[in-house]
Amino acid sequence: MCGIVGYVGESQAAPILLEGLAKLEYRGYDSAGIAVYDGVQVYMKKAMGRLKVLSELTHDGELMPGTIGIGHTRWATHGAPSDTNAHPHFNKDESIVVVHNGIIENYLKLKKRLTEKGYEFVSETDTEVIAHLLDYYYKGDPLEAITKVMHRMEGSYALGILFSDHPAELYAVRKDSPLIVGHTKDGSIIASDVPAVLRYTRDVVFIQNEEIVRLTKENMEFYNIDEEPIKKETTHIEWDVNAAEKGGYEHFMLKEMYEQPKAILDTFSPRIKDGQIVIEELGMSDEEIKSIKKIMIVACGSAYHVGMTAKYVYEGLARIPVEVDLASEFRYRDPIIEEGTLLLIISQSGETADSLAALREAQEKGARVLGIVNVVGSSIAREADNVMYTWAGPEIAVATTKAYTAQLIAQYLLAMKFAHVRGLLDDMGLAGMIEDLKKLPAQVEMLLNNKNRIQRFANRYLGAKDIFFIGRGIDHAISLEGSLKMKEISYVHSEAYAAGEMKHGTISLIEEGTLVTAVLTQEALYKKMISNMVEVRTRGAFVMSVTNVDNTEAERASDYVIYIPKTNKYFTNSLAIIPLQLFGYYVAVGRGCDVDKPRNLAKSVTVE
Ligand code: AGP
Repeated sequence: MCGIVGYVGESQAAPILLEGLAKLEYRGYDSAGIAVYDGVQVYMKKAMGRLKVLSELTHDGELMPGTIGIGHTRWATHGAPSDTNAHPHFNKDESIVVVHNGIIENYLKLKKRLTEKGYEFVSETDTEVIAHLLDYYYKGDPLEAITKVMHRMEGSYALGILFSDHPAELYAVRKDSPLIVGHTKDGSIIASDVPAVLRYTRDVVFIQNEEIVRLTKENMEFYNIDEEPIKKETTHIEWDVNAAEKGGYEHFMLKEMYEQPKAILDTFSPRIKDGQIVIEELGMSDEEIKSIKKIMIVACGSAYHVGMTAKYVYEGLARIPVEVDLASEFRYRDPIIEEGTLLLIISQSGETADSLAALREAQEKGARVLGIVNVVGSSIAREADNVMYTWAGPEIAVATTKAYTAQLIAQYLLAMKFAHVRGLLDDMGLAGMIEDLKKLPAQVEMLLNNKNRIQRFANRYLGAKDIFFIGRGIDHAISLEGSLKMKEISYVHSEAYAAGEMKHGTISLIEEGTLVTAVLTQEALYKKMISNMVEVRTRGAFVMSVTNVDNTEAERASDYVIYIPKTNKYFTNSLAIIPLQLFGYYVAVGRGCDVDKPRNLAKSVTVE
């Protein structure tokens, strides 16, 4: 996510901003900028790349005098990483300057209105719209202009704002993106997260939704969206700096698991409008969607597992044949790509060498390529014919969780869109699936809150030598991901297997006490799965099953059952994967592994 820092006080602002942004680097970013005001002029400097570039450009802030300022590290969402798209952003006469963390979902509509009123835009960002909208409503009262803009914006935002005719006042606004404020020894500070302020204070105020703060050197005044003054509690932060970067979580992986509800919401909400699935970035007309004859999905690792799940969803919902391939295999097998093929490249980083090579191979063979990518402006995003971003935010842990989850949502949206356009999903069916989709964030959160039970179970398997994950259909795809999570962070050998295949060889590995995790979320396959569970159990296996809350039948063939809430049969992966992520995580923690940076692994495999 983006990082925000703001300061007003007696000290020079620029060094404080740069130092605060450096404490937020863990949030992931691709450009940075600061604006400082000396009461006469607003100095602004912003640049692509690391904060080091900005520090060098400003001589560590010395070239930017002033005791009030705002700074920003940008994780690109709307508009690729560039100096122009970096924050802060000015209004037209540079009397208002803004930094923003979040996504303004209706920014295109607002941008159109402002353009019609003569406003000109220099960047591709949604944030610049905020600067001009403030300009439009500003009549000398910052609070009035801010609240009017808040009523017009849809989406999430944490804002830092300066008004040049109010040189002693810094404004902060929050809706859905985090923002905290506090006092320093000689002023006041705002930031996206605790690490940026810990050097100055452990007593902070967490701004809540639709609250505005006016900060001066001495005071902080809080208001609601109706401009009414409100009282706020101060929180004393106990964390150490290292823990603070993880938001109080022990590992980035756990923090990112807990960010999955928001990743799901942020990925689907901009694409559901008035009960319809709207995927503008797909770049395909309804006629082109109807003409799709085949979908090929090419990816690596967990992204490949998303493709394995997506096969069942596209074929089940939209009746489009799907072929799923490992990018490292696809790129060397001289693939046959037929007319009417839509090829999806799924990648969190957008830089995976095999996936990028597969994209180029596919395009050479005439395929239309859609990238499903989490990092805006990454190589795969830039080279694909079209790109559908997942809005999971930056993922720090090597083992993917929230990006994987967001990729699943992107697949569901595409499959629902294709099925509806191709007449295989009627309006009522679509509405029902959208309702189920909207329930997923809360259901995921509920499963995450079940973590202590999983941790206790995991502690019994810290010495395991082999763990099997079995499933049929979409549950086999879930098993693949559950097994990879276990392997890559706990170093315990694990294998995912199509349950129906066990009897063709692998069942010979089952011994007394071997742990077999059975995933059974597909009602039509319950009976088959239960007989496979009985097969392994009678040979000594300990069976942990992950199944739907109404499938109590599974208990007679399980030693331990984890239930997931009811959802559409095509969405069960999004729920069943949560206990499996937690299982792998707690086995790894129990074994003292470096969960966020597992041995031999990189977050993005940019080499073959
Ligand atoms: C998943 O936990 C692993 N980190 C790895 O399998 C990853 O999914 C794979 O390397 C693909 O990365 P990408 O999504 O960035 O292309």
